[in-house]
Amino acid sequence: VSMSELIATLEQQRDLPNDLLCSLLETDRYDAALFQAADRVRRQRYGTDVFVRGLIEFTNYCRNDCYYCGIRRSNAHVQRYRLTPEEILACCTEGYALGFRTFVLQGGEDAFFTEQRVCEMVSAIRERFPDCAITLSVGEWEKSSYRAFFRAGANRYLLRHETADAAHYRRLHPQPLSSENRKRCLFDLKDIGYQVGSGFMVGSPYQTTENLCADLRFLQELEPDMIGIGPYLTHKDTPFREQPNGSLAQTLRLIGILRLLFPYALIPATTALGTIHPQGREMGLRAGANVVMPNLSPVSVRKLYTLYEDKICTGEESAQCRSCLERRVASAGYAIVTDIGDVRR
Ligand code: 5AD
Ligand code: FES
Repeated sequence: VSMSELIATLEQQRDLPNDLLCSLLETDRYDAALFQAADRVRRQRYGTDVFVRGLIEFTNYCRNDCYYCGIRRSNAHVQRYRLTPEEILACCTEGYALGFRTFVLQGGEDAFFTEQRVCEMVSAIRERFPDCAITLSVGEWEKSSYRAFFRAGANRYLLRHETADAAHYRRLHPQPLSSENRKRCLFDLKDIGYQVGSGFMVGSPYQTTENLCADLRFLQELEPDMIGIGPYLTHKDTPFREQPNGSLAQTLRLIGILRLLFPYALIPATTALGTIHPQGREMGLRAGANVVMPNLSPVSVRKLYTLYEDKICTGEESAQCRSCLERRVASAGYAIVTDIGDVRR
């Protein structure tokens, strides 16, 4: 079969055999056809709607030591911070006025934020913003804690699986982190009733095409509502300082493939994509993405939440990010909507 037939098959069957998927991941020759098909599928399901999620990075303390991450425990160069409950609520208030109806509370795995403190934070937001979705992105917990957060009012959870391959996972994360526990968390979250987001980095160190293929297979098993991917980006204060960045082109290709495999999915044009190229997020939208996640954190802490170098949006006020994105999304041919932005299965 020719490659363009291959893309037609992928669009119609929503699947491809492994060998064909791998060859598609490795060539740029059919990108135009792929992005065209992905845009068609996205418009069928979501029109030109782009959903926004206000991202609040509320702590950069982390107990983990992931080899790729700038806020890893061993990085002594990071000035650590935590937002107070009042500061967090103020971010939400500002975001609500700007039209955000989803707040993403993201943080490192910070021991200060016990199950009880996370629950208190969630209930306070839930009480003030009953018409909003509350998304947590606070890493790995026992199922009982996930249940407690859910009861407190959280209804979505972001936890990238990072890589579905256990051996590759061990090369990116020191013990005791494991791919097995990561996956356990994701299935627990789904079982509790969260709308779940997962995903992975593209071009992470030691990643093979087979690894990427396995990532797509794992996502087919999990069927998450949201799938976030972005290029791996180097940070100089990590053990991976010598490792090259992931590729823009391969990230875009994967967004296109994800849209065809998962027509219903919420797929963000991520900050990492906007960091690797000035128009990266616009390109992501045109390749099949339908979500953007502007930063709502106080500008005073923006530069401290540095997972990778040269992160964009660290100097802009929330309102500036919001209007900047409005323009960028429009320039790509889509429109931001004021909506809670639920998945359309
Ligand atoms: N480059 C790109 N993405 C990264 N993440 C963490 N560190 C990096 C990096 N150096 C991603 C991980 C994590 C998400 C919050 O950010 O996939 O799940
Ligand atoms: Fe933040 Fe453009 S989105 S400055």
